Amino acid sequence: MLKKYRVSFYLLLLCANQFLVVDAQQKSISQKVDSVLRLMTLEEKIGQLNQYNDDWTATGPVTLDNSKAEQIKKGQVGSLLNCIGTERSRNWQNIAMQSRLKIPLLFGQDVIHGFKTTFPIPLAEAASWDLDAIQLSARIAATEASASGIHWTFAPMVDIARDPRWGRVMEGAGEDPYLGSKIAYARVKGFQGNKLGDVNALMACAKHFAAYGAAIGGRDYNSVDMSDRLLWEVYLPPFKAAVDAGAATFMNSFNDINGVPATGNKYLQRDILKGKWGFKGFVVSDWGSIGEMINHGNVKNEYEAALSAITAGSDMDMESRCYKNNLAQLVKDKKILVAVIDDAVKRILKKKFELGLFDDPFKFCNAAREQKELNDPEHTKIAREVAAKSIVLLKNQNNLLPLSENLKTIAFIGPLVKALKQNKGFWDVEVPGVDSNFIVSQWEGLQNKVGANTKLLYAKGCEIEGDRKDGFAEAVEIAKQSDVVILSIGERRDMSGEAKSRSNINIPGVQEDLLKELLATGKPVVVLINAGRPLVFNYTADNAPAILYTWWLGSEAGNAIADVLFGDYNPSAKLPISFPGSVGQIPIYYSHFNTGRPATNDSNHNYNSSYTDLSIFPKYEFGYGLSYTNFQYSNLQLSKKKMKAGEQIKVSVTIANSGKYDGEEVVQLYLRDKVGSISRPVKELKDFKKIKLLAGESKTIKFIIDKEKLSFYNQQLQWVAEPGDFELMIGTSSRDIKLKDNFELIQ
Ligand code: BGC
Repeated sequence: MLKKYRVSFYLLLLCANQFLVVDAQQKSISQKVDSVLRLMTLEEKIGQLNQYNDDWTATGPVTLDNSKAEQIKKGQVGSLLNCIGTERSRNWQNIAMQSRLKIPLLFGQDVIHGFKTTFPIPLAEAASWDLDAIQLSARIAATEASASGIHWTFAPMVDIARDPRWGRVMEGAGEDPYLGSKIAYARVKGFQGNKLGDVNALMACAKHFAAYGAAIGGRDYNSVDMSDRLLWEVYLPPFKAAVDAGAATFMNSFNDINGVPATGNKYLQRDILKGKWGFKGFVVSDWGSIGEMINHGNVKNEYEAALSAITAGSDMDMESRCYKNNLAQLVKDKKILVAVIDDAVKRILKKKFELGLFDDPFKFCNAAREQKELNDPEHTKIAREVAAKSIVLLKNQNNLLPLSENLKTIAFIGPLVKALKQNKGFWDVEVPGVDSNFIVSQWEGLQNKVGANTKLLYAKGCEIEGDRKDGFAEAVEIAKQSDVVILSIGERRDMSGEAKSRSNINIPGVQEDLLKELLATGKPVVVLINAGRPLVFNYTADNAPAILYTWWLGSEAGNAIADVLFGDYNPSAKLPISFPGSVGQIPIYYSHFNTGRPATNDSNHNYNSSYTDLSIFPKYEFGYGLSYTNFQYSNLQLSKKKMKAGEQIKVSVTIANSGKYDGEEVVQLYLRDKVGSISRPVKELKDFKKIKLLAGESKTIKFIIDKEKLSFYNQQLQWVAEPGDFELMIGTSSRDIKLKDNFELIQ
């Protein structure tokens, strides 16, 4: 006993000691920052707040600037984005070293889902509900990008998105604040690694602050009109999780929120982020968003735009040049204090120190390391595993899947079978010297998988878009010769992503017509749907016997899809966002309020909250996804039925794998607060566990209910748990609730 205490005591000492070390480091960094700041002219300070696009690629409207090098030499630029590769970054850093104070440049880049090794798009990865896998994929992306000269990724995007018309739905973790927060945390940890300053750590950037995902009508860059309750309860939690994970930076957003552009929004940036949450990093604007406040109609000119943004807490100006051209004058005119600029500069310099750039500005420019990290076979292996974990099995009639290894002939049909770059999805990175078709196509993946006794036949059938059907006959012909047909259809990679909002999210072109003809052959058809968003595909959903939603899976797409088709990986993914059956249902999400006239089915429209011409249910609900095996839920137990605020309830439930295959299940815990001073949603995800069970195995898993899980923002925006009755639901999806019980929170 004594020994145990002694060990704990030493552990405590060790931890305390570590805190002291970190604290001392921070102290000495802030002393160093202060000493650099004292040497800086106002022009040099403003320079640190100025970020330009390098000319390698552009992710926004470019202002060509021939004098970039000259400006860097004068200390007028603090950071570049879209500068990739050790050679390029070394060149620019060399130029920065010719400036008076030799303050190193920061290189930022959208490393959204992998670097050279492309991982599934973030929405797909979110479908894995596998936080370790998500963190690992960010870790690998950071390892590769940091080896290629990059210090900072503009990721993760943690915007909650409930409108699949919005093209950027692909870039986040879906509709739910709980799942979104867990994923935000994992991604930040993954990018930043053990600590900033390690040679393989990237600074993370939680974006877009805030509520960008709620653009009206799903139209990118559109306004957001939102209650404080919704903001705090649904849209802010993933950002808070990013702060808790230690995110080094934030990016604000293009939208206005209730009439105030996020970029000039003091409430968001100063009061919430830097005030209430104590965020010590810096905020970068979105591309040109400071200048765009003129279009919003909130400021008259760039001078006012700069004033509004700096006052509101935007520290760095990405590409609008408003800070560079106006901050000095604003100081002269006594519109802002130098102290406001100093605070922004200090936040940026601090990160440059933490990264170790003042000690060695070329720390991330090691060409040998770049070669090594960009060619690590382990990265490919993990990309394949993460991709397989992201594929959602939507339908599997008569256990058509997994396919048998003894099939004689397979027809692989569709416009995406042999596609290369498409599989990467939007926001892949063009790495200098790397073939952008560095990818395993679906065709190649299947070829790698099947043995010599299986013949593979191919026909394109049709294009993704357009109405030409002249390829149908060949497709039908090879289908007839086969034991099974696999049809790969969907969107183009650039149909989702930034500025890619769509009002029609059906499967484009004649692809579903092709399916119809293939089904008419009587052959079993497995459909792969490739997309960056939830699509509407009712014909496929109602008629195809088996459907895998493959999103965009990255470099290893083909191998991962083949692994799932043949059962080398048993699908375990669950939808992180509701799939509508019609655009008319949007926005549709599981955690809605009950309303005063709730509808419970689609046949009764007697003055209730329903559509007379549409279902009230999504086609596939949040949390939905099948497996090749079956899971049985039983024995839900609560340690008590009444709890006080300081207490906990222990919940246990037994899950058994009753099928033939080993598999993983995401066990989801939802709560409903039956009566609240503000109406509470019909259910809210409050916990989940992803478990692996061998065929025939069963496990008892445990959850803890505490006050935190019962709390919400009341009308005064206080985070409270109100006494009363709660319903607890354990499900395999948000709709398929297997077990229920009730408990009470007492005074
Ligand atoms: C996007 C950001 C991105 C930035 C830099 C903007 O258009 O909204 O998410 O990080 O460009 O590429």
